[in-house]
Amino acid sequence: MLKNKRKKAQKLEEILQSLDAFEKPNIALEQYSTPPHIAAQMLHIMAENTGEIDGKIIGDLGCGCGTLTVGAAICGAALCIGFDIDEKALEIARGNKEDLELENVDFIQCDVNDLSNSRWYKAFDTVILNPPFGTKGNRGIDMKFLQTACSLARETVYSLHKSSTLEHIEKKVKCWNFKMKAMYRMSFNLPKTRRRDKDESRDIDVDLIRITLTETNKVL
Ligand SMILES: C[S@@+](CC[C@H](N)C(=O)[O-])C[C@H]1O[C@@H](n2cnc3c(N)ncnc32)[C@H](O)[C@@H]1O
Repeated sequence: MLKNKRKKAQKLEEILQSLDAFEKPNIALEQYSTPPHIAAQMLHIMAENTGEIDGKIIGDLGCGCGTLTVGAAICGAALCIGFDIDEKALEIARGNKEDLELENVDFIQCDVNDLSNSRWYKAFDTVILNPPFGTKGNRGIDMKFLQTACSLARETVYSLHKSSTLEHIEKKVKCWNFKMKAMYRMSFNLPKTRRRDKDESRDIDVDLIRITLTETNKVL
């Protein structure tokens, strides 16, 4: 059983490795793909431990080239919709969808900040995201993405955040009256974002968090 699960996770990682990624990443939009082993681990936790993918309607905020959207579809989601502001990234995401012949995946161009009061309000069972961390002067964008995710999801939100911001996020989520759990810590290789940075990339600790929306009546 355990062997089977490991094989499934490995297979998923291999497929995610084969996806096309950003050609010319827009640094201001913090464009870097979730590394395949992290995306596979994240989706594996959702699919196997909590059963929050199979047959579910999934939203992916800041989907980029669609790693998590496509991954969720491979893991058995009924429908996956990825949102991103950058049409060029979405073209690559659509190519990835076509290469894998996935029919239950769609991509929509929009500013995630405009979604809270849109037709997508409470449209998804689960929302997943690897948001911009706000390292490019756009401070607080990670929390805006997270709050939007909570307004679009009916049941659960899974999100990746810098471990150094975990305490702050916990306080915010408590204020919103939802329950949050840090699920898994991993090391994330972030590409260079400033010219003056000496190294091409640096490793930072990132936590996968899970927010459950069903244990409260509060609506954002
Ligand atoms: C860290 S990347 C994550 C990409 C993808 N989710 C993945 O896991 O590979 C953040 C993504 O958020 C998108 N983004 C940044 N600001 C945005 C905004 N205001 N609205 C929608 N997407 C945005 C970027 O274009 C980028 O694709």
